[in-house]
Order: sequence, then structure tokens, then C-alpha cells
Amino acid sequence: MSVLVTGGAGYIGSHMTYALVDRGEKVVVLDDLSTGNRSLVSEQASLVEGDAGDEALVRRLIEEHGVDAAIHFAGSIVVPDSVAHPLGYYANNTVKSRALIEACVQAGVKHFIFSSTATVYDADAPQPLGEDAAKNPISPYARSKLMTEWMLEDASRAHDLSHMVLRYFNVAGADPKGRTGQSSPRATHLIKRAAQAALGRVPHLDIFGTDYPTRDGTGVRDYIHVGDLVDAHLLALDALRAGAPSSTFNCGYGHGASVREVIATVEKAIGRPLPVREGPRRAGDPPELIADPGRIKATLGWQPQRDDLDEIVRSALAWERRFNS
Ligand code: UD1
Repeated sequence: MSVLVTGGAGYIGSHMTYALVDRGEKVVVLDDLSTGNRSLVSEQASLVEGDAGDEALVRRLIEEHGVDAAIHFAGSIVVPDSVAHPLGYYANNTVKSRALIEACVQAGVKHFIFSSTATVYDADAPQPLGEDAAKNPISPYARSKLMTEWMLEDASRAHDLSHMVLRYFNVAGADPKGRTGQSSPRATHLIKRAAQAALGRVPHLDIFGTDYPTRDGTGVRDYIHVGDLVDAHLLALDALRAGAPSSTFNCGYGHGASVREVIATVEKAIGRPLPVREGPRRAGDPPELIADPGRIKATLGWQPQRDDLDEIVRSALAWERRFNS
């Protein structure tokens, strides 16, 4: 029995791979290394360089490695890029996911876990967002993810496949053992950018919008430590293997931090002010996105261990120092 991790050389996938091998699972990572990094993959996993949408390759891997479950991280995630290149996003996220699901069904994989996103929700829906909140994916990125959710729902109804969709809120932080972290040189995420600014790797951090209807005028997000997110996947995998029905879960803590609060946390960690530049809102950014994590806690028994912005920021800074040093 082994687990197929697509995108396992990327930020979240590489943490997942370590968590799986740490508990003795056999793991085959499939990654095209377009944004992933070979050096982030645990040496205890088998790394195959290839395309998650290559049905013949995926079927061969499933048969050769005795895969019983797939965890699908591979995909493109930069929202503005998806607006500029929608067809590329549908090809890379939706079309390839379709091929992967097909290969899993044909080769007899029983369980599938999919990385989805909080941006499938209507940003105007009341916060915190439960899984049944209104959907209104406004970017091609979010739509490409919601379409994959729908394909999985339909495929699970028609075939011997059970799945879990995990809708991530804002994932941040790094492996406490320092083995992997957020490594994309083009990362746009706040905590990554703040860590880069803290270490002088970018001249300043932009604050995108100071006039939001929030407590200090800046955007509020539910930052979840990547370690807690990975734990949610392990619980989902165990539940599916134990016969749990297909479900969808939010992954977030249920409270948020503003951009200014994140900056203050970074400043506390480094002991000096961060170079910041206040600017206009970034197109498409909602004021606030907060999860209601009640369902995953009640159903899977998920108990966050690292619900602490200081710890998230410290681990992100530690990784940033190590990664580029
Ligand atoms: C985005 C996507 C989300 C996706 C996630 C991972 C949107 C609305 N959401 O989350 O679907 O799953 O990335 O790819 O696009 N900010 C700054 N300065 C910066 C960077 C960010 O002020 O340099 C602010 C943003 O305006 C926002 C907050 O920080 O208020 C978080 O932004 P970011 O880390 O980019 O994540 P999201 O945009 O929330």
C-alpha cells in the first residue's frame, strides 16, 4: 500500500510527504518540477518527474507502487496569473485533474484527497465561512478548483472511489525540523513576502489596501500553520481508509490576523521595524476570509497544535534564513 502525492516537491506537498514517511507510509511523489524543488522531497519517498495529467504514467505508478490513495496538490496557484491565462489554468488544474481522477478510477485507487481553496466561497457571505456557505469563485483559479471538486463528487458517486476535499484558508509557516518550507522565488503570499523583507531580500513589503472595513483597515485572513494542515490530510486519509464517506472540510482556525498584525508579529520576531510601503488594494482581494472549522473538528477530530501566529512567523523566518543562505 502506498500513497501517491502529486505536487510533492512543492510547498505543501513536500510537508505532506515528510509527514507520511515519518509515520512509515510508502510514498510516491509525482511532480513536474515546474515550480517544485527536488531538494524538498524526502529521500525516503520515490520521486518521479512527470505530469499528473499523464494518464498512462499515473496508471503505471499506481500499479508498480500499489497505490491505494492519491493526495493531489499539483496545480497552478497564482490568482492574477489565472486571470491573465485562464485557459492555461483550466488546462493545468482542471483538465489534468480530470485525467488523474480517471487514471485513479481505472487503476483501482480507492481514496482521493484534493487541495481546494477558500476562494470558492462568495466573499460577501457572512464570516466565518462554513462549508455550505454560498459559492462564488471569481477567479479562473478558484473556478478551476471548484470544477475539480464537482468532478470528484460525480466520480465518487459513479465509481468505487471515496474522496475528501480540503478547502485551505491561508497556509503559512514551515516544517519545525527545518526540512522544507515555502520556496517559490515568485511567491506572492504575505508571510513569505514579509519574511523576505525581514531578511533584506526584497526592499520592502507592500500593504495592499489600508481602507478595508476591518479593524485596522487592512485585509484579514485565517493563517493556518502548514503542519496543522498536513495533520488534517493524515486524518482525512485515515478516515477514508476506515470507510468514511466522501466529504468537504474547511481548513483554518476560525480567527484571523490583519496585514498590520502580521507585520507587527514579524517585527517582534526580528526586533526591528519592517520596511513597509502602503499602497492600493490588490484587485480581487476580499476584506476578510475566516473559516468555520467546526465540521473537520467534529468529524475527523482535528485538533490544531500550532494555532499561534508567533510560531507560524518564527518557522517561516527560520526557513527563509536557511533556504537562501
Ligand atoms: C490567495 C488566494 C487563495 C489561494 C492562496 C494560495 C485570493 C483572493 N486568494 O490568498 O485562493 O488559495 O492565495 O495561492 O487571491 N498582502 C499584502 N502584501 C503582500 C501580499 C499580500 O498586503 O505583499 C495582503 C493581501 O491583500 C491579503 C493578505 O495579505 O489581505 C493575504 O494575501 P496572500 O498571502 O497573497 O493570500 P490570499 O490572497 O488571501
